[in-house]
Amino acid sequence: MDRASVSVPSLASRAEHEEYLGEIFSTSHTRRFPWMNGGMGVDLSNDTLVKAVMAEGGAGTLSASAVGFNARREQILAELSLERRVELFQQANRDEILRQIRSVREAFPYGILSVNILVPMNDFDSLVEDIGSSGEVDLLFPAAGLPRGLAKQMEQYPHMRYAPLVSGPRAAQIMMSAADKSGGRPPDAFYVELPQFAGGHLGAKDVEDAMNTEPADPAHLDGPRKFDAEVLIQQIREVARGIPLILAGGIAYGQDIKRAHDLGYDGVSMGTRLLLTQESGMPNHLLEKYYLDSRYRVTKTMTSPAGLPSSIVEGPVLPVLTEDVVREIRSRCVSCIGQKRCQFFRPGGEEHSYCIARRLPASRRGEEGGVLFTGSRLEEMRNDTLYTLDGKPYIPTAQEAMSFVFSGMRGNVE
Ligand SMILES: Cc1cc2nc3c(=O)[nH]c(=O)nc-3n(C[C@H](O)[C@H](O)[C@H](O)COP(=O)(O)O)c2cc1C
Repeated sequence: MDRASVSVPSLASRAEHEEYLGEIFSTSHTRRFPWMNGGMGVDLSNDTLVKAVMAEGGAGTLSASAVGFNARREQILAELSLERRVELFQQANRDEILRQIRSVREAFPYGILSVNILVPMNDFDSLVEDIGSSGEVDLLFPAAGLPRGLAKQMEQYPHMRYAPLVSGPRAAQIMMSAADKSGGRPPDAFYVELPQFAGGHLGAKDVEDAMNTEPADPAHLDGPRKFDAEVLIQQIREVARGIPLILAGGIAYGQDIKRAHDLGYDGVSMGTRLLLTQESGMPNHLLEKYYLDSRYRVTKTMTSPAGLPSSIVEGPVLPVLTEDVVREIRSRCVSCIGQKRCQFFRPGGEEHSYCIARRLPASRRGEEGGVLFTGSRLEEMRNDTLYTLDGKPYIPTAQEAMSFVFSGMRGNVE
């Protein structure tokens, strides 16, 4: 794999930055889209990881969802009024994402910077407004939902492109039609995420659907499956002609990047490979203890409060929540995805879901019992030589991880 052809070249001025963006988004495909990291929340693909990705020639993606929660957690949780907690929570997210954007821009004024926001977040619209108004972000990735009003909202930020996350042609069509109907800006690219491999929330109906067992063509039961990368590119190209398609989910080795380009994708994005680095927000001790240990399996579950299947490392079994604990958690809700939508907030919701505002940021703080999202190729990747040093588990730097990816060597340890 020729690394330079899929990396951001060194850009030394605003003009070079604009010219390069024009080329990678051009419908004549004059230049390949650079490799990038996927947005990973809460606060996992933060400014530290993004700067490391940019230093390696990638396009960096910050995650804005609930990003400020940990920094002001005690103050937020001490507040008795729901309205006030929501206000503090949303202000914390706004302050933190703008801080991270500034921090990246100080180090890389002309790098390619994007931000990912989960659409179900209650503060989605206002985060778009803050990120757009900063004038510093090149690309926005709305994820885990289809924001039909975004096409119109994006008209206010002509410098910022947007690429919705989709897992099939129907979602892409909905976003194209929403732009058409509203007279707003159509998407500039699509982020095509394969649910059978990706980490976090998955764009599938349920766990069974996310396993990709359904044939793409019911007349050919032995043929390709619904979410196969080669099937999706043809179907999505029909509704989104010319614009870049970025493939994500299961990209872990140089040969995966080459295959994606051979299939006709313009770019690739990696989540898990970059989560397993010293620079990611996931603390090293949790990476070593759960992610690198083959006793902990990867599973897809339906427990996400957003009502989507998700892919996680199964850590140790958690104690059952008592009624008092559930009541306490609910009484300190920050309405991160809205109480009506939240599966945990419903009566009896604790039986099959969890409070994402409590359990996702807990992993970032290094606590036991947090949710550990991962892509499912983790089980293979664990065996890479990259993760062992002197016979002990080792968390590589992003630089080491990317030279491993591009060196083309699998380097499996048996
Ligand atoms: C820990 C973790 C957190 C994630 N959080 C988000 C998120 O907040 N928003 C999002 O769109 N995708 C999220 N993802 C998905 C990644 O951005 C990426 O698209 C996906 O993991 C790609 O698959 P891979 O991990 O096999 O490379 C997350 C993935 C992981 C592993």
